Amino acid sequence: MGKYQVDHFFHKAKKEGYLSRAVYKLIEIDKKYGLLKTGMKVLDLGAAPGSWMQWTASRVGHKGCVVGVDIQNINFELSNNVTFVCGDITDPDFVEKLIKKYSPFDIVLSDMAPFTTGNKDTDSARSAMLAEQAFYVASNTLKSGGAFLVKIFQGRDFQHFLNVVKASFNRVRVIKPSASKKRSKETYILGLGFKS
Ligand SMILES: C[S@@+](CC[C@H](N)C(=O)[O-])C[C@H]1O[C@@H](n2cnc3c(N)ncnc32)[C@H](O)[C@@H]1O
Repeated sequence: MGKYQVDHFFHKAKKEGYLSRAVYKLIEIDKKYGLLKTGMKVLDLGAAPGSWMQWTASRVGHKGCVVGVDIQNINFELSNNVTFVCGDITDPDFVEKLIKKYSPFDIVLSDMAPFTTGNKDTDSARSAMLAEQAFYVASNTLKSGGAFLVKIFQGRDFQHFLNVVKASFNRVRVIKPSASKKRSKETYILGLGFKS
């Protein structure tokens, strides 16, 4: 089943012109919860190689815009409604400049993932640290009523982080999209209705 999934979504992405199979996780969540709408301003953290930016840019259209951020550079031509910024979301100076320059947003997305070591505890702790940074950025940039979608590996810090998100949003969902590999610990937390 796992192998079928990898091949299925990988080949589907190639055929449909997406830069990564990761796009199908966002598409599933967007379709189910009606996240992205024309004219929205979206921040996409951990945006490389760029498939979430491709989908988001097409959904918000030319009246909206997408700001993508990643520690790694990207290698494709952006549409006019997308800005890409290369930087490290764990660097406080970078984050403060980012917030100052581009806030506010209707939605903050984070598909950030750490470089994995194979050690479950280390990897989940690093993932939780990235999720917490994404939450910090979201808390300081979201409009009232805005949405936050963040990837986090299941692990020791998961429940605490979930409680933190629950305190700041009216509705919170924990989601395992079909395109997530079954053996992967990755999960998405969706917060709707930011209480600013
Ligand atoms: C799973 S990929 C994201 C895929 C992307 N959503 C797409 O659709 O193409 C995770 C990304 O998180 C980025 N990342 C990891 N740590 C980061 C950090 N400290 N700051 C910014 N980006 C980071 C990685 O460089 C990687 O590109």
